[in-house]
Amino acid sequence: MRIFHQIAEYRQWRATIRTPLVFVPTMGALHEGHASLITHARRVAGPDGAVAASIFVNPMQFGAGEDFSRYPRTVKEDEALLAARSTDVLFLPDANVMYPSGAETVKVTPGPLAGMLEGADRPGHFEGVCTVVAKLLNIITPTHMILGQKDFQQHVLLAKMIRDLDFPVNLIVAPTVREPDGLAMSSRNRYLTPEQRRLAPIIYRTLCWAVQAARSGDRDADELAAEIRHRIDTGGLETRYAVICNAKTLLPPRGRVSKEDVILVAAKLGTTRLIDNMLINEEPSHG
Ligand code: PAJ
Repeated sequence: MRIFHQIAEYRQWRATIRTPLVFVPTMGALHEGHASLITHARRVAGPDGAVAASIFVNPMQFGAGEDFSRYPRTVKEDEALLAARSTDVLFLPDANVMYPSGAETVKVTPGPLAGMLEGADRPGHFEGVCTVVAKLLNIITPTHMILGQKDFQQHVLLAKMIRDLDFPVNLIVAPTVREPDGLAMSSRNRYLTPEQRRLAPIIYRTLCWAVQAARSGDRDADELAAEIRHRIDTGGLETRYAVICNAKTLLPPRGRVSKEDVILVAAKLGTTRLIDNMLINEEPSHG
């Protein structure tokens, strides 16, 4: 696996390769969820194509008082995981390479979708995500980019950015990888104490229950969302939001839940924020 810290060096390599070039952006602290994206990328790239990953803990997407400084950084382990999954190239810039203008950097304005849900609790978060991904797309120039369904609002917004700003890239969304008890894998799970870790799977169990409930009868979206919130709060977490909305637009449904909808949840366990989601027409993957 080649590792590039500088844009110019990467571009020299890029000029020599054949496509498809399939890109997986990350912030590192890699786990099996990230690994599954790489495996997916390898399949899409085929024998002649290449797989590129990036690791950059993007300061612009963290708010004041969030976990930027304590975000886990495990670069050596990450490199081993990526190499073991046949990643061809890792782009590993530091903040000076990504943001030479510092606070003066021109940013991508993501529009009203970015102020909802995650964005309501984390002002500026999606501006940071869209800006760094726009930059990474301009640097890496992939034919395909793979994102995880786990960060649902993120992939909806980035799909919109790609359309609205005409990035010549195909976006692929890959399913959420879970622990055996259903907890969605996340770099932030390592913040959980053993007691919190024991409570955390209530999110997944509640999503499974709600999807079954929605499918087995006509359900009012607000009532179902209120029941989801109640179950998660009763399980010892603090629900930040539990909403049922259209999976493409993220607009709330009018009255009844439909099979085009998705359930989005964020909950806090102590200071750790967990997010998860499930499509109404999705088959739960864990018993
Ligand atoms: P990060 O949280 O490292 O996630 C990188 C990619 O891995 C994202 O597309 C995310 O949805 C996916 N992912 C995370 N957990 C997953 C799981 N359990 N199963 C499947 N995929 C999973 O998301 C970011 O980084 C950043 O916002 C980034 C897009 C890199 C921009 O900085």
